[in-house]
Amino acid sequence: MSQVHSIAVLVGSLRKDSINRKIALALAELAPASLKLNIVEIGDLPLYNEDIDGENPPAAYSTFREHLASADGVLFVTPEYNRSVPGALKNAIDVGSRPYGKSAFSGKPGAVVSASPGAIGGFGANHHLRQSLVFLDVACLQQPEAYLGNIGAGFNEDGTLNERTQGFLKTFIDTFAAWVEKNRKS
Ligand code: FNR
Repeated sequence: MSQVHSIAVLVGSLRKDSINRKIALALAELAPASLKLNIVEIGDLPLYNEDIDGENPPAAYSTFREHLASADGVLFVTPEYNRSVPGALKNAIDVGSRPYGKSAFSGKPGAVVSASPGAIGGFGANHHLRQSLVFLDVACLQQPEAYLGNIGAGFNEDGTLNERTQGFLKTFIDTFAAWVEKNRKS
């Protein structure tokens, strides 16, 4: 088997029953053996403030940065809030991007999935996030794009993802695995 690559997964929703968390967990199950997805929690990160981020940053900042830095790639699975990236996820991105010149994101391969009960599948959040990823030097998978709209219809009555949604997620995660293999830092 080829080498196993670890992926830090950042979920943009903090709520317990988050649809996006369910999608992230489904992606972890569908991933090929070459990819290990680990959700890195972002809910306990203090709001980013340069005044508390110096020689002795909060432990939560350091731990989060270490998790990111040790990963071979990063996957974002997020809802859209007011046509943009939820504040908790933007905060996590800001924390991971500092100290200046030592961004934990730099040079990693990445991908974005957005899911919403709404029709346009979190397109606004997905693309605002991509704007930050350009600056962060994350090599972002372009295709397939993953805007999971009307996501309620993607689930069976028993709460499992239906075959069609699972099929799309499988294609997505297999393509991402190949992307990570091609673009990971050696
Ligand atoms: C939303 N929601 C939402 N949906 C959308 O498609 N576009 C949007 O701009 C917004 N804006 C928005 C703002 C705020 C503050 C909240 C709380 C929600 C609805 C959102 O898609 C829905 O609650 C999802 O279920 C959130 O994802 P999780 O938590 O289920 O992963």
